[in-house]
Amino acid sequence: MDAVELTVNGRDVHLQLDPRTTLLDALREHLHLTGTKKGCDHGQCGACTVIVEGRRINSCLTLAVMHEGENVTTIEGLGSPDNLHPMQRAFVTHDGYQCGYCTPGQICSAVAMLEEIAADIPSHATQDLGEVEFSDAELRERMSGNICRCAAYPNIIAAIRDVAGEGEA
Ligand code: FES
Ligand code: FES
Repeated sequence: MDAVELTVNGRDVHLQLDPRTTLLDALREHLHLTGTKKGCDHGQCGACTVIVEGRRINSCLTLAVMHEGENVTTIEGLGSPDNLHPMQRAFVTHDGYQCGYCTPGQICSAVAMLEEIAADIPSHATQDLGEVEFSDAELRERMSGNICRCAAYPNIIAAIRDVAGEGEA
């Protein structure tokens, strides 16, 4: 077992973990933060997306010991039922889900993705490297790591546009 210290949703946590434990399993099985979902467990669906040190990652593809001392934000840390994060509220307003299984990952991904656009970090869909255009193609490309089996994609895009203060393309 290895000692691992993380800051999760603003709280310092001290864990004793088998070094093979993924960050996803550390969150769900050891910290009981079950908002983060396990869909495929091998990097294909995005259901496990969390924000680590400001960047979105698939928590199933990384080991907890690799994040010693780092800040992790899960869906539980973005907002609470009484105090929703704007992205959580927008998903409710725009019906951005059906079964909801992909939703925590979609929301964590969307929050970090808007930061990427604000920082003019290009994607494969970016036309002008100097200035990222807020197009549907750009949003779809950037959210393409988050699969929604219920196909709520148009509503997810509408929710993201709402939070970003952007209307229809
Ligand atoms: S559970 Fe991590 S990408 Fe699917
Ligand atoms: S809402 Fe069901 S998988 Fe996305």
